[in-house]
Amino acid sequence: MNKKNLALQGRNNIELAEKNMGALMKLRENFARLKPFKGLKIAMALHITKETAALVRTFIAGGANVAITSCNPLSTQDDVAEALKADGIAAYGYKGETGREYYSFLNKVLDIKPNITIDDGCDLVTQIHLKRPTLLREIIGGCEETTTGIIRLRAMERDRALKYPIIAVNDNKTKHLMDNYYGTGQSTINGIIRATNVLFAGKTVVIAGYGDCGKGCAMRAKGMGANVIVTEVDAFPALQAQMDGFRVMPMKDAAPKGDIFITVTGNKHVIRVEHVHTMKNGAILANSGHFDIEIDVAGIKKAATQKKQIRPFMTRYTFGKRGSAHGKEVYVLADGRLVNLSAAEGHPSEVMSMSFCGQALACEYLVQHNGVKGKNPLKPGVHYLPEEIDQKIASLQLGVMGVKIDKLTPEQVRYLKEWKEGTN
Ligand code: ADE
Repeated sequence: MNKKNLALQGRNNIELAEKNMGALMKLRENFARLKPFKGLKIAMALHITKETAALVRTFIAGGANVAITSCNPLSTQDDVAEALKADGIAAYGYKGETGREYYSFLNKVLDIKPNITIDDGCDLVTQIHLKRPTLLREIIGGCEETTTGIIRLRAMERDRALKYPIIAVNDNKTKHLMDNYYGTGQSTINGIIRATNVLFAGKTVVIAGYGDCGKGCAMRAKGMGANVIVTEVDAFPALQAQMDGFRVMPMKDAAPKGDIFITVTGNKHVIRVEHVHTMKNGAILANSGHFDIEIDVAGIKKAATQKKQIRPFMTRYTFGKRGSAHGKEVYVLADGRLVNLSAAEGHPSEVMSMSFCGQALACEYLVQHNGVKGKNPLKPGVHYLPEEIDQKIASLQLGVMGVKIDKLTPEQVRYLKEWKEGTN
């Protein structure tokens, strides 16, 4: 498709997304009136999807100047990137960019000398702190979208390296209990199916990690008729998985049992060559954690006797002689990168609407609590959005869905503040 047609396709997709992002559109209306970001520059490294485009347009409506690149070399939706560019927005990146290009695009975004950074995985923040510290002068704060990014920020905090306030948008209830659970759950299965067209019914699906993302994947795989095994390193989520009716065991024991493997741990080398050696012939390996290190793809590549691209996001690795009694094949999806954004379109718009209301309101909060002009300035470090903002997002979304809920009666309000009233 030529650039013009790509941009037209992108525009249609953005329009479709915005129709399903009612809560974010409500914020946009307010921003358009109040212009909270007037004169501010926002640098974004988020997956360039139709939903992210809706967020970009919301910041612009609020008066911001925005530059955006992707936070993953495989997740850019090229039509959306073209549509943004056609509207004069500084958007960098394409699906399949190299690692080198990835970093050059991050730096192009930083060239605007941002006042606010928005990350999904903490690459902008680390780039600024490690390579371009002079940019710190202009920055009032940042936002982080994902668990992996928060883990990195906490490590920076521990090293006293973090020099500006960052809001952990991931930790909003309306983000991690919705996006990580329902979003990752659906989009991961969608990515695996789009890449392979495999049937889930009757398969054994091994899910590594039982955080919110793992829980969502397990629920959806079970719903499609799969037998789910969970692997964990943490006793409490392991217990939850067992109580939710899943089998729990170490990866070493799960490896020979699984047909489909999904990693969502945020850690590295959760599936290693030693596991692959005991897997069934034809096992499918997919990752839905932020970075491409959860499956040791480099190790698999080294140990394999043959590598073949079977379909766009499906690579076959052969061990031993193909077709021989000892020959074995496994399929790695999307090179071990986020399968939901590489082989599919990421989370659906409805769920991203809530996550991105969090981003939009976190940026507004940063402006209101800016060290120069704001009230109660935020110190460098990781911060959370106040509960009432999270509640506001949940209420907005309920409103969009046409769901009404009860209100406490005055008697109930009083009762909740009372400690003397107990057993009758
Ligand atoms: N992360 C997961 N799904 C996404 C989407 N659709 N857009 C942006 N970021 C995402």
